[in-house]
Amino acid sequence: MDEKINVLISKEEVENRIQEIADEISAKYAGKVVHLVGVLKGSVFFMCELAKRLSIPVTMDFMSVSSYGNGTKSSGIVKLIKDLDETIEGRDVILVEDIMDSGRTLSYLVNLMKERKPASFMIVTLLDKPERRVVEINPDMCCFKVPDRFVVGYGLDCAQKYRNLPYIGVIEE
Ligand code: IMP
Ligand code: MG
Repeated sequence: MDEKINVLISKEEVENRIQEIADEISAKYAGKVVHLVGVLKGSVFFMCELAKRLSIPVTMDFMSVSSYGNGTKSSGIVKLIKDLDETIEGRDVILVEDIMDSGRTLSYLVNLMKERKPASFMIVTLLDKPERRVVEINPDMCCFKVPDRFVVGYGLDCAQKYRNLPYIGVIEE
C-alpha cells in the first residue's frame, strides 16, 4: 500500500530557515567552538545541514534514546540506548533535535547533560509541536512550529520510513 505524502514545509523553506538559525548560532557563539550533540536518528539530517552552514568551529557527538515504538504513538518511557563518546564538561553544548512533542525525551536528556557540567547548554530543534507538551520544557531555538499532525521527512520517520524526504510532509489519511 502506497501512502501519499503532502508537503507541509518545502525543501527550500526548510533550508532557508536552517541558514537563518545557523547565522544566529554563529553570531551568538563567535570565538567559541560549539559542540553539537545530535539525538539519533531523527536529528541527523538537520544536524548536517546546520553544521555545514555554521561559520564557527564545530565538533559533534551523538546519543540515542527511544521513546517511540514502531508507530506514531509515544510509549512515554525514555530509555538511553547509546551515550555520548566524549565528555561535555566545560564545552559549549547545543543539543540538536528533530522535533519536540511531549517534551519527555528532551527533559530526560537535559537533566542528563546538565549533570555533566557543560560550560553552556541550549536546545535547538527543527520542529516544535507546542500543543502536545506534557513536560514543561521549551527549545531555545526552533526552525518551525507545526500543528498537532504526525510529520515525516528531513530525518523524521514513520516506522523508520521517509527520513530521507528532503521536505517536511504529512501522510495523507
Ligand atoms: P517527545 O519525547 O514526545 O517530545 O518525542 C520526541 C521524539 O518523538 C522525536 O525526537 C521524534 O523521534 C518522535 N516524534 C514526535 N513527533 C513526531 C512526528 O510527528 N513525526 C515523527 N516523529 C515524531
Ligand atoms: Mg527523535
